[in-house]
Amino acid sequence: MQEIRSVKDADVAGKRVLVRVDFNVPIQDGKVQSDLRILAALQTLELLQKKGAAKIILLAHLGRPDGKVVDGLRMAQVEARVRELTKVPFEMHENLRFDPREEQNDDSFAKELAGLGNIFVNEAFADSHRAHASIVGIPKFLPSFAGLRFEEEVLRLTLALTPPHGALAVIGGIKFETKVPLIKKLLGLYAEVLLGGALANDVIKARGLPFGGSLLSDTPVPEDIASDERLLIPDDAIFAETGSNAERSGRVVDIRAEESIIDIGPATSKRWAEKISKAPFVLWNGPMGIYEQGYRDGTDVLAEELVRSGIPAVVGGGDTAAAVSKFSFNPEKVFISTGGGAMLQFLADGTLPAIEALKVSAK
Ligand code: 3PG
Ligand code: MG
Repeated sequence: MQEIRSVKDADVAGKRVLVRVDFNVPIQDGKVQSDLRILAALQTLELLQKKGAAKIILLAHLGRPDGKVVDGLRMAQVEARVRELTKVPFEMHENLRFDPREEQNDDSFAKELAGLGNIFVNEAFADSHRAHASIVGIPKFLPSFAGLRFEEEVLRLTLALTPPHGALAVIGGIKFETKVPLIKKLLGLYAEVLLGGALANDVIKARGLPFGGSLLSDTPVPEDIASDERLLIPDDAIFAETGSNAERSGRVVDIRAEESIIDIGPATSKRWAEKISKAPFVLWNGPMGIYEQGYRDGTDVLAEELVRSGIPAVVGGGDTAAAVSKFSFNPEKVFISTGGGAMLQFLADGTLPAIEALKVSAK
């Protein structure tokens, strides 16, 4: 098997090094709201400086400008924060997605970018599921290496694919149809898979339980998944009433037609937190409720217990990472992946487009 080469083994002295980073961070009023992805890239930048790189040029995207210049999505706002967090000198390229050729994976764009440097380092694990010019194109034209954090992500997630006996997977979020292969795979590897978010609604429906007006996927859950008893769904939930602010908790079987599920309920949170506290290992991606609308209780109860009990865990996805980060966790125990979609796709497929591109990069 071809291996990816590590930045540790790259000869960068006197060279211009292009580093693809994922600085696609939440920003509010021009201020970066989470440093996780920035901090994750810094050890590679420090290593490059120590090894005598002549210049470090950072390549990144912000948001989804759709191939056009969007002033609110300029990299400068992130750049300012990065300069507060590191003394390593670097140049920041403008948002790659201002050029439509980035997402089209156009070789002419990859070649132009490659022309800016002599060596390429991918330190953007969170973008590794995107077959874009800066991710899979540049390695065709330059000797390419994986960044330190990129390597660690691959290692930690590879280990999560051989979990110890009795391990738990917790999966939340939406769009069941996109997560079928992953959930099937996790059911084969983990003792139990705890399902929250809108994903649970689909299984509630597939098991013939009432779901009121809860958000559902477009396609039904395959029968073999729905009937697997090791796929757990909440017994109680928080319900919101359509068109009103009324909220209540109750047993899922008692949901009314005009209500929808917005979070797992207190009894379920308590039971699942207890399971987490006894597990040898936990893999977790995705919130249990509509996190961005403030329905965070279920997710927070699980996050707090995960941190309190010191269970070894791999956690990913922006909301889940934010929930765990609210509590002071031991980084020796809990690994927070910078990836959301990239983490899920790696777990499902065992590889990613960025990894394959690095394996066959120019020498
Ligand atoms: C992410 O935040 O998931 C990555 O930065 C990729 O961004 P995208 O989902 O817009 O491709
Ligand atoms: Mg994304």
